[in-house]
Amino acid sequence: MPSIQKMEGLYMFPEIKITLTETPKAKPVAGEPLAFGRKFTDHMFVMDYVRGEGWINPRIEPYAPFEIDPAAMVFHYGQAVFEGLKAYKCEDGTINLFRPACNFERMNKSNERLVIPEVDVDFCVHALKTLVNIEKDWIPSGKGESLYIRPFVIATDPFLGVRPSDTYKFFILLSPSGAYYAHGISPVKIYVEDTYVRAVRGGTGFTKCSGNYACSLVAQTIAHDKGYEQVLWLDGVEQKYIEEVGAMNIMFVINNKLVTPMLNGSILPGITRRSCIEIAKSLGLEVEERRISIDEIMAAGKDGSMQECFGCGTAAVVSPVGELRYEDEVIHINNGEIGPLTQKFYDTITGIQSGKVEDTFGWVTKF
Ligand code: PLP
Ligand code: COI
Repeated sequence: MPSIQKMEGLYMFPEIKITLTETPKAKPVAGEPLAFGRKFTDHMFVMDYVRGEGWINPRIEPYAPFEIDPAAMVFHYGQAVFEGLKAYKCEDGTINLFRPACNFERMNKSNERLVIPEVDVDFCVHALKTLVNIEKDWIPSGKGESLYIRPFVIATDPFLGVRPSDTYKFFILLSPSGAYYAHGISPVKIYVEDTYVRAVRGGTGFTKCSGNYACSLVAQTIAHDKGYEQVLWLDGVEQKYIEEVGAMNIMFVINNKLVTPMLNGSILPGITRRSCIEIAKSLGLEVEERRISIDEIMAAGKDGSMQECFGCGTAAVVSPVGELRYEDEVIHINNGEIGPLTQKFYDTITGIQSGKVEDTFGWVTKF
């Protein structure tokens, strides 16, 4: 079986075996509300890793449950990573992927931290394009809708000893989805978490490993019960500096500057974050990536120097924050309305993604 490691000099991808479903499912009906991440298309991409052979058996097959040994290491020690990106249908019928190589490059950073073998970024983009092309009629085109793409890797050795697995499975699932927040681009309320932490120095905060999300659930549940949509995490050492939101990076506009926590190893290097920074610089806006204390933010919220605050991420796109609660204090930002810069980032990113705004940055993979 040819392995997916690039053959020296030839740069050829191995063939992807395609098996089409004989029982296609009904597609979501245009105009009807579409939830985030609940429906899946007819097919998925799968490949296997066997130590000594590399990534093998790339295939597209009908989306279906699969058999796995209950002793598979992923269930016991959580050796699992994932990614999230989107495909968009343009008005001229072409399909746009937004910076797909960035996701597979980041997956490799997660893989390295979890001792999961590296994937070939170019091959993964090729496999993704092949899959999306087969499923192109599943890409919804209503406002705020897209085909959410979920690549992930799990450890499959049936073994209870603690060590890296020798076998893995890589999947790409596709899910026609509406907005991540049911109410679209309206300001969210965020709870600053002061008891639990998400990541610590030297830990896995910079990765998209499943465990990061498992350990965030308790705080998210408490915040939901208090009427807040998301948690804003503080650093795991002093619980003093702002890190990120549950599924988004966080940005502030303070005294006309875009201010965001620097990449310190414990927050996810978001692709939307990076895109907002690049857009801000192209607009001539001053950008500060630095340590930001929660005290500074609460003070800036009270004295009026904080003009805007928003979260950014693939699923959520750009999501204005209208209220932040820290301990017993609450600040309201921009009277709970979407600020002009937040709107500008939202319009530019969604415009480029959907093909309505010229992609001067070269971010889109069109096919
Ligand atoms: N931070 C966390 C914890 C996330 O889960 C996400 C979503 O992927 C982000 C930030 C934003 O990253 P990206 O813009 O690459 O989607
Ligand atoms: C994404 O934005 O793609 C994410 O992965 C966030 C999520 C955990 C739904």
